[in-house]
Amino acid sequence: MRDLKVTVLISGNGSNLQALIDARDSGRLGINMINVISNVADAKGLERAARAGIPSTVLEHQRFADRNEFDRALAMVIAAGEPELVILAGFMRIIGPGVLNHFEGRIINLHPSLLPLHKGTDTYQRALDAGDCEHGASIHIVTGELDGGAVISQVRIPILAGDDKHSLAARLSPMEHRLLVSTVEFFTGHDVEYREDTIFIDGNRLDNILQLQPDESLS
Ligand code: GRF
Repeated sequence: MRDLKVTVLISGNGSNLQALIDARDSGRLGINMINVISNVADAKGLERAARAGIPSTVLEHQRFADRNEFDRALAMVIAAGEPELVILAGFMRIIGPGVLNHFEGRIINLHPSLLPLHKGTDTYQRALDAGDCEHGASIHIVTGELDGGAVISQVRIPILAGDDKHSLAARLSPMEHRLLVSTVEFFTGHDVEYREDTIFIDGNRLDNILQLQPDESLS
């Protein structure tokens, strides 16, 4: 099977990027990582990309006159690589219409909550404050609404007595990596389409969010 062309957007550590690189290198994931784009010049993820031989681009948002200009530049850099899938893996900027209009339905984001719960930031503390008995991560299609597009996949972990936001984040992080790798793997093996706020897998409407199973499959 032909490798799926992907572009990954990051802002920081890039541990999720690393999970994709490792899965590519082990032969599990058939992806061609065209470009890693960071809006932060000293993001650690850029070193990970360089070590893996993946070209990278830095677009520092504060160097642009406004959000629209940043979006225009971002859209141009993404488009140059002609990716089939754009993966936001810890990309801490809101993507505006200047990008969305070109790549609608082809951008996915990893968010650390069981969407639609806890959109936005500080999700671990908010899950604890709400008294939730489980937390998790979601991968969704990016739309104009923050963390609001249709969800394709999730992983769930229990919230344990004595958990604080740090312990919760530490336990979720490796599960996020697995969710991201399994979801991108899913994209390599299926035709995933997005229209009218609905996800279609190989032509069939996705009625239930895919859940990461212990064997790392999605169902
Ligand atoms: C992850 O927790 C992800 O859910 C959130 O940002 C974090 C990125 O981590 N959106 P890393 O940069 O991939 O290590």
